[in-house]
Amino acid sequence: MNIKHSIGVFDSGYGGLTVFKSIAEKLPQYNYIYFGDNARSPYGDHSFDTVYQYTLECVEWLFAQGCQLVILACNTASAKALRSIQQKVLPVKYPNNRVLGVIRPTAEVVGGFTSSKTIGVMGTRGTVNSESYLIEINKFFPEVKVLQQSCPMWVPLVENNEHLDPGADYFVEKYINELLDKDNNIDCILLACTHYPLLIPKIKEMLPENVSLLGQGDIVANSLVQYLKNHPEIASKVGVEGKKSFFTSGDAEVFNTHASIFFGADVVSERISLNIR
Ligand code: DGL
Repeated sequence: MNIKHSIGVFDSGYGGLTVFKSIAEKLPQYNYIYFGDNARSPYGDHSFDTVYQYTLECVEWLFAQGCQLVILACNTASAKALRSIQQKVLPVKYPNNRVLGVIRPTAEVVGGFTSSKTIGVMGTRGTVNSESYLIEINKFFPEVKVLQQSCPMWVPLVENNEHLDPGADYFVEKYINELLDKDNNIDCILLACTHYPLLIPKIKEMLPENVSLLGQGDIVANSLVQYLKNHPEIASKVGVEGKKSFFTSGDAEVFNTHASIFFGADVVSERISLNIR
């Protein structure tokens, strides 16, 4: 029997929906399953081991739903779990399945967005401490200087839907100023956390005019378009009814309300119960 697959999209919570929105715009024909691990979010301050365990559990759940290809639409999970899943788990347990992250496709193009060859990267503590962006950008653009800034308060602001509240101004300004103080030449800031695009209106108010902002939605979507062209053996197995299903480990009604803001369209989700520790 020829069972049609879905493409899995995973994030610790709502952030991956900013990437999923771009993917669904570019590739509307495919069937997708989005899973947000809201019950255990945020991931940003958890250890490598914990992020790996949580991410693997969610990826295996998506595999069990018929997703041969899963996108980790989360920088923290991409930084802390992707390599181990790709190198240790897939070859042994799931040789036909694929898991892709968001860091490499971003690093491949980011150098094209700076004239001063100096960029700022804003992310969770986990992403920043992993130094994944320093390492990956250096592979593609060794001439580009990268300054990093962790923004531990931004994901909680977004997850709690307080990101456009006047109270958010303090933390938006604080982290932007801390980053820009590191180097006057920064002319492009990469939002290296899929939650951060929700803060763009506030960030823009605080930015000097010569500094541009770069999100990851379109970058990751373009890279997926290319990946599926290069891998027809995977693309041909994905169902093309344009179905989108949403699942959360948290409260489904709360998820629906917040997720529709991130996704820009109504979202109806189902709660699933993982082995919550
Ligand atoms: N959206 C995730 C990212 O891109 C971060 C969320 C978290 O800390 O859970 O890094």
